[in-house]
Amino acid sequence: MLQYPDGFRWGSATAAHQVEGGNTTSDWWAREHAPGTTVPEPSGDACDSYHRYREDMQILVDLGLDTYRFSVEWARIEPEPGFVSRAALDHYRRMVDTARELGLTPMLTLHHFTLPQWFAARGGWRSDDAVDRFARYTEAVLPLVRDLEHVCTINEPNMVAVMAGASGGESLVAAGLPAPDPVVTEALVAAHRRSREVLSAVPGVRSGWTVATQDHQPEPGCEEVAHEYGHPRDSLFLEAAAGDDWVGVQAYTRTTIGPDGPRPVPDGVETTLTGWEYYPPALADGVRLAARWAPGVPVFVTENGIATADDARRVDYVREALRGLHEVMAEGVEVEGYLCWSLLDNYEWGSYAPTFGLVAVDRTTFERTVKPSARWLGDVARANALPD
Ligand code: BGC
Repeated sequence: MLQYPDGFRWGSATAAHQVEGGNTTSDWWAREHAPGTTVPEPSGDACDSYHRYREDMQILVDLGLDTYRFSVEWARIEPEPGFVSRAALDHYRRMVDTARELGLTPMLTLHHFTLPQWFAARGGWRSDDAVDRFARYTEAVLPLVRDLEHVCTINEPNMVAVMAGASGGESLVAAGLPAPDPVVTEALVAAHRRSREVLSAVPGVRSGWTVATQDHQPEPGCEEVAHEYGHPRDSLFLEAAAGDDWVGVQAYTRTTIGPDGPRPVPDGVETTLTGWEYYPPALADGVRLAARWAPGVPVFVTENGIATADDARRVDYVREALRGLHEVMAEGVEVEGYLCWSLLDNYEWGSYAPTFGLVAVDRTTFERTVKPSARWLGDVARANALPD
């Protein structure tokens, strides 16, 4: 048995746009419905979690998991600039209260990829007052965060910067990720700092952000190339988390770096439904990267998982990832918990096909079906240990 420390948190995560449904005032909804859109499938009703959140939380509790990370939707809270919807705030407060009532610890993300349409129309993170606007939004959500321990300001700022870079023209890359937009990177770092300042007004709240670690692995002699390539795509954002209350690591796969940069996944290697290499050690590597660039900042694994139709393979993946995580913790890195991505088979940014969920969702009836992997993870959580 690999035992985890007392108080180690176990849970799962979702994001508003991917599960709520009907998120009509967000930029993603607009993109899904734009004439000639390249988005293969719209989000529609998603998993209807806007209404079924209690059921979702109850599933976590029944499984034996103790933490639920979910996001609040800026586009619902501030659908027009300066108009803060009390009804939307009340909704999310009810979610926080329901989690508590059921005995779950809620972890809140303030921004998970989607923006209000008005904010995007003004230039999004490139607009002059983006940082002020995000600070004001953070002030608006303060009633939601009182009595919360973990608040994430921005989910995967590195991917936000990369997506902004891609929409600037470089949308297709043979391997790896497009170059992040440096203006957006700077704005995100500033927005994170301002948001943390605002959050610090609430006693007990510990704030941070969550970074998608890419596990850039240099071929021999390519260490410098890997650094040049990797720093703006992940470690810069971990470096910016130095001094934060905690930092989230979100890891899925690795990228091999040759003399000319990222290599495509080689033929014959096992890949997942997102086309990524099946590579569970990415988690341990991501946590080591965080410990290196944000030394001393406690790590929380806020996402890790696999898109697969073979649920037994999900168990294999998570087991291997957790084994690696245990090793890094034995090396001395403080890790507070592990959240599997994702609770539900949800809207994977353009398609429902890549199924990351511990729980299946019927696309017509919204009926939830708990998968064996969810029960397996629940058993690990109850034992606070990984069986041999
Ligand atoms: C994101 C999630 C996404 C997951 C799998 C992360 O990049 O935070 O929203 O669904 O990875 O792609």
